[in-house]
Amino acid sequence: MRIRLVIVFVVALLLNCGVVNAAPVANAQRRASVPAEHPPGAAIASAHQLATEAGFEILAKGGNAFDAAIAVSSTLAVVEPVSSGLGGGGFFLLHEAKNGRDVMIDAREIAPASATPAFYLDAKGELDLDKAENGAASAGIPGLPAGLVHLQKKYGRLPLSVSLAPAIRIAREGFPLYKRLLGQFADRRRVMDRYPATRAVWEPNGQDPKVGDNLVQKDLAHTLELLAQKGFDGYYHGEVAQHLLAAVKADGVNWTAAELAGYQVKEREPIRFKYRDWDIVTAPPPSSGGVVLAEILKVLEGWDLAKLDEPHRIHFVVEAERRAYHDRTLYLGDPDFVTMPIRRLTSADYAAGLRASILPDKATPSDMLPGIKPPIEGDNTTHFSIIDTEGNFVGATQTVNLSFGSGMVVAGDGFLLNDEMDDFALRPGTPNAFGVMGYDANAVAPGRRMLSSMTPTFMIGKDRVAVLGAKGGSRIITAVLLGILGIEQGMDSSQIMSIQRYHHQYRPDVIMEEPNALSAETIKALEAMGYTVTPNTDILVLTHSVDWDRRNNVMHAGSDPRNPTGAGIVRVTTARETKAVR
Ligand code: DON
Repeated sequence: MRIRLVIVFVVALLLNCGVVNAAPVANAQRRASVPAEHPPGAAIASAHQLATEAGFEILAKGGNAFDAAIAVSSTLAVVEPVSSGLGGGGFFLLHEAKNGRDVMIDAREIAPASATPAFYLDAKGELDLDKAENGAASAGIPGLPAGLVHLQKKYGRLPLSVSLAPAIRIAREGFPLYKRLLGQFADRRRVMDRYPATRAVWEPNGQDPKVGDNLVQKDLAHTLELLAQKGFDGYYHGEVAQHLLAAVKADGVNWTAAELAGYQVKEREPIRFKYRDWDIVTAPPPSSGGVVLAEILKVLEGWDLAKLDEPHRIHFVVEAERRAYHDRTLYLGDPDFVTMPIRRLTSADYAAGLRASILPDKATPSDMLPGIKPPIEGDNTTHFSIIDTEGNFVGATQTVNLSFGSGMVVAGDGFLLNDEMDDFALRPGTPNAFGVMGYDANAVAPGRRMLSSMTPTFMIGKDRVAVLGAKGGSRIITAVLLGILGIEQGMDSSQIMSIQRYHHQYRPDVIMEEPNALSAETIKALEAMGYTVTPNTDILVLTHSVDWDRRNNVMHAGSDPRNPTGAGIVRVTTARETKAVR
C-alpha cells in the first residue's frame, strides 16, 4: 500500500513538474564545447503566477533581474500576503554579471527598543506565546520596503514607479483568492479577527472569503504608491509611518518615529565555500542558512553519497544535519552584535572532526549534545529565483514569519505586520514555532536582527549555475541541501522539485519525513540504527528554483508542485516561451 502511494505521489509530482510531461525546457538546445557566455533568455520561478509574470513584465520594459526582483517581491506582497509583505523582511542574494560580484541585501526586521527578554515572559517566567507570535508585540521593525528601495537605487535600471506598477495595479484591482491562502487564513483567523483593519481586508462586509473572490487591497495600493513616489521616506516617514506607530500603540506596544526612520538595510558578504566541483554562494548571518549548509556539505564530502544504499545515505545526511543545527543553536545570531566562529564552523578540519564522530551504522542521540522540547508547527515565507539574459541572478527569500505574520493589518496602510520576534531565542533553551532554540548568541535586544533560516543560494559549477531557496522555517536549509545534492547528481531545477524531503534539526531528535518520502524498508533500516522517523504532514516546504546549463545553453525553472499557484517560466530571447512548471 505504502509503496503504491509513493509511486502515485512521485508520478503526480513528475507530471506536475513537467519531467514526465516532456519538452518543457528544450529552449535553444545545443551542445557546445565552450559554455555559453550569456543565457538564452530569462527564467523566473516564484510562488505565484502573477508574481512571475510581473517579473517578466519588468524585464520586457528594459529592466534587469534586480528590477524584476522588485516586481516579483512586491507582487508576492500583494498576492501572497500570508507569506511575506511590506510589514516583513527578507534577504536578496544578488549576482551582478558585469563585475562578477555577489552580495546579500539584508532587509531583515530588527527588534524595537521596547523588546527585552523580560517583556516576552509571563508571570511564571515561561515564554508568553501570544506575545511571541501574535499582534504588535511579536513584530520587528519591517525591513522589506527599505530592501526594495535599496535594490532599485544601487542595482536597478528602472524607477520604482515602473517596477512597483504591477503590484500597485493588482492591489488596486484585486486578484482571485486561492485555496492555500484560505486554508492558512482559517488556521490563523482566531488571531486575525482581533483586528478591525484585518477584518476589513479579509472579511469585507463581514463576509467569509471564498476561493475565487476578488481580494482588493486599496490601502496597500496606496502604501505601494507612496513607496514608488518617495522611496524610503514614503514608508519610514510620513503617513505610512504614522499609521504604523498608531497601530502598534493601539495594540499595547511603543515604537518611536526615530527607530522606524533609523532602519538600515545592510549589504553582507555572502558565505562562500567549495562543495566538490561547485562554488556555493549563500546567506550569511543573520541567517543561519549558509553556515549550517556549509557545515553539512563539508561533512558530506567525506562520502560518495550516490554509491551508498538509501538508509546509509540518509543516516550520514541526518547526522551531518544534527551536528550543524546543534552549532546553530549555540553560536549563531546577528553579526552586528555577536562574534561567531564562522571560519572554524565552515572549515574542512572542523568538518573532519564532526565526520569522525559519526558512527557508520548508528544514530548519535541528540541527548549526547545539549537538549530541547518538540516543536509547534506554523509557517510562512516565500522564495523566488531569477536569472536574466545578462547573466544577473537573484535568489530572494522574504517573510512575515508565521502565516499572516502577527495577524495584524496596519490600519490605513493595508499590510500585515510580521511576527518575526519569535525567531529570537526569546527564552533561552525554549524552542520557537519551528522547534529551534538558541541561547545568548540569538538573545533578544533592541536593534538586533533575529536569527533566520532563510537560505537563498547560488550553486556555480563549471558549466551550470542554479539559484535555489525555500520557505519552511528551520526546514529551509535542508530543502536547499537536498536541492544541491539533486543538482549535483545531474537533475535540473524542475526535477529537484520532485525530491521527497526528510529533515533533522538536532531537536527534536527525530527524522521528519514528508509523508511517504521514505520506503518502509528504509524506515526499518533507520530504526535499526536507532532513529525515530515521523511523518510530518504539517511541513509545507516550498522551493522555487532556476538554473542555466551553459554547456547546452538551456534554462530551467522549477516551481514546487506542492504549490499549485506557483509558476516557473523560461522565456527565451527569441520570444519563444517554454513553461517548465506551473
Ligand atoms: O527567518 C526565518 O527563518 C523564518 N522566519 C522563516 C519562516 C518560514 O519560512 C515559514 N515558512 N514556511
